[in-house]
Amino acid sequence: MGKEYGVIGFPVGHSMSPFMHNDAFSQLGIDAIYRSIQIEPAELEVKVKELKENEIAGFNVTMPHKVAIMNYLDEVDEVAKSIGAVNTVVLCNGKYKGYNTDGLGFVKGIVEQYGSLQDKRILLVGAGGACRAIFHTLASLGIESVDIANRTIEKAEQLKEACSYPVQSKVISLETAEQRIEKYDMIVNTTTVGMLPRVNEKSLSLKGIKKNSIVADIVYNPLETLFLKEAKQQGASIQNGLPMFVYQGAIAFELWTGQKPDVKRMTYIVEQQLKK
Ligand code: ATR
Repeated sequence: MGKEYGVIGFPVGHSMSPFMHNDAFSQLGIDAIYRSIQIEPAELEVKVKELKENEIAGFNVTMPHKVAIMNYLDEVDEVAKSIGAVNTVVLCNGKYKGYNTDGLGFVKGIVEQYGSLQDKRILLVGAGGACRAIFHTLASLGIESVDIANRTIEKAEQLKEACSYPVQSKVISLETAEQRIEKYDMIVNTTTVGMLPRVNEKSLSLKGIKKNSIVADIVYNPLETLFLKEAKQQGASIQNGLPMFVYQGAIAFELWTGQKPDVKRMTYIVEQQLKK
């Protein structure tokens, strides 16, 4: 029998990961299967024990288990520890190790399209889980000019304080961010504002941004949020949340199998699912 993989979450039925990973296994001739595994929060410990007893080869972790899963792993990678959340678990030499590929997935998607982020002045909007993953990953890569704007300032302060890597970032209000928006080379919405059904909302006004700036959104449903529409009108280059989603999966796939999946094909598979 082939190896087993999956994604644990609650709810998890809507996940597009099984389509993406099962197609990649088949493309590369790997005898493995990836399935959605719904686990209620109260059952996490027991169900994860069962998965380990069955020697699951690896799994993704989605809401609401990304933080709690860390209690049931043998090891956690340094970046995931700094973020305080795990989205990928790998069985290696009999031990289950947790990683977080969300932030690196975002960075790879941007770098692939726009090149190095090293000298860019970056603004992250939000202070939730996705922001933590992106901010701590950027800091771990030595990218220092990353400011955070959030509706609740204290939440952004806590996020910055929790980072284990040296950073020079400023925490600012949404109003201050809007006033100095022309200073940034890249602006990223890391909140779920703008995602279906909240399609008429945006986390920040982009009036006055630099013409050649990059504006990214972690949301991919819809593919073009109100935030990205405004950015386009202002002459910015835009990127939706699809590359981040696909690359977080591609990095997890490589951690599990040691093989690089075809990212273009993975993107195509997810796009087909989104059209359904
Ligand atoms: P989590 O990962 O914590 O579940 P999320 O729900 O994806 O996070 O996003 C939460 C982020 O969106 C928070 O930064 C939140 O701001 P607060 O910390 O002030 O709550 C932000 N957010 C939610 N609705 C918003 C809105 N209408 N305008 C601006 N930011 C908003």
